Amino acid sequence: MQRERWGSRIGVILAVAGSAVGLGNFLRFPGQAAQNGGGAFMLPYFISLLVLGIPLCWAEWTMGRYGGTCGFNSAPGIYSVIWRNRCAKYFGAIALLLPLVIYMYYVLIEAWCLGYAIQYLTGDLMLGPDAVADDYGAFFANFSGQDADGALLSEGRRHWLWVLAGVFAFNFMLIYRGVTKGIESFCRVAMPLMIVLAVIVLIRVLTLGTPDPSKPEQSVLGGLNFMWNPRAEALLNPQTWLAASGQIFFSLSVGFGIIVNYASYLSEKDDVVLSGLTSSSMNEFFEVCLGGLITLPAAFIFLGAAAGDQGTFGLGFVALPNVFAQMWGGQAFGFLWFFMLFIAAVTSSVSMLQPVIAFLEEGFGLKRHASAAMLGLLSALGCGFVLYFSKGLVALDTMDFWVGSVMIFVLALVQSVLYGWAFGIKRGAEEAHKGANIRIPHFIQLMLKYVVPVYLGVIFVAFCLNTLPSSDTELFPAHVTDSTPLEGGLVPEDLEQQFREQDITLPDDVEIVDAADGTGWEVRGNEDALLYLLQPGAEPDSFVVLQHKPGYVESISRSTAASASVLFLLVVLTFLLLLIHIAGRRWEKAGLLTYGPDPATPNPPTGGAT
Ligand code: ALA
Repeated sequence: MQRERWGSRIGVILAVAGSAVGLGNFLRFPGQAAQNGGGAFMLPYFISLLVLGIPLCWAEWTMGRYGGTCGFNSAPGIYSVIWRNRCAKYFGAIALLLPLVIYMYYVLIEAWCLGYAIQYLTGDLMLGPDAVADDYGAFFANFSGQDADGALLSEGRRHWLWVLAGVFAFNFMLIYRGVTKGIESFCRVAMPLMIVLAVIVLIRVLTLGTPDPSKPEQSVLGGLNFMWNPRAEALLNPQTWLAASGQIFFSLSVGFGIIVNYASYLSEKDDVVLSGLTSSSMNEFFEVCLGGLITLPAAFIFLGAAAGDQGTFGLGFVALPNVFAQMWGGQAFGFLWFFMLFIAAVTSSVSMLQPVIAFLEEGFGLKRHASAAMLGLLSALGCGFVLYFSKGLVALDTMDFWVGSVMIFVLALVQSVLYGWAFGIKRGAEEAHKGANIRIPHFIQLMLKYVVPVYLGVIFVAFCLNTLPSSDTELFPAHVTDSTPLEGGLVPEDLEQQFREQDITLPDDVEIVDAADGTGWEVRGNEDALLYLLQPGAEPDSFVVLQHKPGYVESISRSTAASASVLFLLVVLTFLLLLIHIAGRRWEKAGLLTYGPDPATPNPPTGGAT
């Protein structure tokens, strides 16, 4: 089969940068920074960029190009020539699962962006002068079908499926045209266009002044201060460090299985070191200089500190539309912003399809139309799953957690070990510097071998401990009186009052039940969710209130949509492993895969000589 090649050096840089620049830069980054210490977030963020992001990016570029020169474009093949062992190809399943599954929900968010842009054009998103934040929240909940599973298939809402179908088809049209005519050509136009659109919106935000004179703190400077003012105590919280490294991976598309694939279309004459650094720097410009200056400051100017409490979607699809509605020219700027987000998302989503297309083509000798059709079917199935289980966006959140967070760490760890220990950093340095315009300092190679795997391992364990198990945090001591003893049923008024004194308003539908383990009581809310534990205190009629935070394992067991999503992921993973097994047999038969020490190198594969 004729091997594909990038058309030009600037083309590949723009394509890799296009893959990196996406919703993560404009929505995820500001949300993460606001929730994790503002300016203080930037310290772990830049440490993660320098220690993990850029070194791993170089490792991926290097391994990818090496795999390409050995005749492979997909991770299972590339890993097999990096580590000449029968098991190596199976690790490639993670590198295919990641982009494939992320595509399944990313393309949906991409369609939301286009849908919002269209509704700015038609004026439907300008909800009028009396609209409040809740109205924008209700608009988004309705638009994304959060009220019930299958809501988006109901009469009157189905027409948005055409937008999704169009976005889906657009991605496949680009991928069908190939890396040069499809991805590269699109990114050459899309990247400069994105800069222009983002700069226009940035200028508007920076010239907002103080729109409401009665709230002088809600000004441009106040907004920048809110986003960037370091809250140093956050540095002591492990969550800040986890969030920072997760953001670096998601944003740079490192540990996604994409860069190894993109780099495999390069030749030994092409530079990977400067190109890798340039595309990462471009991503940081979009993230820190554009994403960091637009999204949150704009939301703060109009909404105040409440802007920081919104999650990624709340910020992007609820707070910002509310902001655009209040600013002069908001309809036009709203359109430009969401259209820019849509383009940013396309350059990323298209990069998520290419690794799987490449695998289907080289693993089974399929022609482009057959591989595109097969991938289209698989991804449409997954996207349909996320679309159907839209209630509370549970399926989307579950997939994003397991694949967009947990698996990214796993793949980054796998790739750092493959590079540092299987390929070896001496060989890695030689390979990276072929055709290179600048040199990677030697300590980076040492870091890749020794520091990165340990750092990643520690972060991964901390991440799992932090998010998987449920936890109960002691809140305050409380008491009941004889006239309102604690018993099953509604929460007594004086106990509710004690919650209010702690600034906690209990939802309307809570009730008290006996604790499952027989000691004390539980406060349960909507759909029987455990909210608080009331444990007997030292005095009679006194007790301690603990807040229950469900971990991811508990969340899955409690929700059918979440359990179904995890099951779906396992089925896709098994399917990919099976395909890889069959493809591996074909490669072995064709003599493309051989195992044992590489005759071309004096280093044994596991030697990792420095
Ligand atoms: N790197 C892509 C983004 O930031 C996935 O959205």
